[in-house]
Amino acid sequence: MDLLEYQARDLFERFGVPVLPGRTATTPEEARSAYQELGAETVVVKAQVRTGGRGKAGGVKLAHSEEEAVQTAAEILDLDIKGHAVDVVMLSPGADIAEEYYFSILLDRASRGYLAMCSVEGGVEIEQLAEERPEALAKVELDAAEGITPEVAKRIVSEAGFPEGIHDSVGEVLQKLWEVCYESDATLVEVNPLVKTGDGTILALDGKVTLDENAEYRHEEWEQYDETAVQVDLERQARELDLNYVKLDGSVGVIGNGAGLVMSTLDVVAKAGEEMPDKPKPANFLDIGGGASAQVMANGLRIIMSDPQVKSVFVNVFGGITACNDVANGIVNALEMLGDEANLPIVVRLDGNSVEVGKAILEEANHPLITVKNTMDEAARTAAKLAAEGKN
Ligand SMILES: Nc1ncnc2c1ncn2[C@@H]1O[C@H](COP(=O)(O)OP(=O)(O)OP(=O)(O)O)[C@@H](O)[C@H]1O
Ligand SMILES: [Mg+2]
Repeated sequence: MDLLEYQARDLFERFGVPVLPGRTATTPEEARSAYQELGAETVVVKAQVRTGGRGKAGGVKLAHSEEEAVQTAAEILDLDIKGHAVDVVMLSPGADIAEEYYFSILLDRASRGYLAMCSVEGGVEIEQLAEERPEALAKVELDAAEGITPEVAKRIVSEAGFPEGIHDSVGEVLQKLWEVCYESDATLVEVNPLVKTGDGTILALDGKVTLDENAEYRHEEWEQYDETAVQVDLERQARELDLNYVKLDGSVGVIGNGAGLVMSTLDVVAKAGEEMPDKPKPANFLDIGGGASAQVMANGLRIIMSDPQVKSVFVNVFGGITACNDVANGIVNALEMLGDEANLPIVVRLDGNSVEVGKAILEEANHPLITVKNTMDEAARTAAKLAAEGKN
């Protein structure tokens, strides 16, 4: 489970990691109150979305007055960042940044431990830094039982090349971030940027935290995160409809019959998307199982289409006990039931029992949203392409 930045900020604060105050807003008027509460003349307005590169997408902006903050919040709340609608912004006082650093702790499955990564060249895309100048990124394996002790912190900051004068102050922050990671059962804690301000204070200006859902049973406090997540909301609706649905992070909705077929559909879509702009990925797992009635198909399409990230849908069915003609009728009737609610292109691939009859039914229906493709690869490519084009 990925936390939004403001949730990570709150978590950091609880563990004594130095952060700036933050106030969230879901409307421009709430942004006005947030601005007044902060009491700073210059503020930064930041989109709260579960994706990186917000700054580049216009989702992080400074504002120098109350009116400008309200206006900026209105603009950012209108944005769609890589398929994520911005429902919440966070306002924070503007910081006087002298230097930007990078720090992260992640669960490293290969070494069965944690890995700390740190660089004095922060604020940039870390993947790019790791590729172009790997020597600028210090990597220190952590013993999970010991974590970041003062000695380990010292090693990290000196390997990363921090100036002597701030070894202790940065080291202290790293130790607290380890506490956050360990106590919260996180698989990732990333701070980019960690900054030094003009007066030498160290601050975590951005936080990305992924919690390990396997540990949910021992964290009652995680309930607060659920309420805000679209994921949880869609998955709950799907459960109520008896659908086997898992939300993922992409833009191509997927419906199939049989868990194995759906799994391989996810792979084919991801593969097809790799060659396209923005790399569209599958938006969900949805197995509608055997009896693909119109009602089940309509329920599935409705859930998938109410995911704001979804831009196209791929229905991949192999007719067995439920023949393709039943599925085809199911799709056509589902679209009738949904009416205006169905508003995204749907790519259908049918194979197996009664495939020709099924295709004939779809052809006859001649529905403007439906495209029929003969192979899984072709269909995946078409759906991914439609998703890539559907992005604004
Ligand atoms: N409170 C602040 N005051 C001044 N500048 C800020 C503040 N917060 C962030 N910035 C500046 O904005 C840049 C981008 O902010 P941030 O790291 O939060 O977003 P991002 O990196 O674009 O998003 P993501 O981490 O999701 O990719 C920072 O590197 C920093 O230079
Ligand atoms: Mg950042």
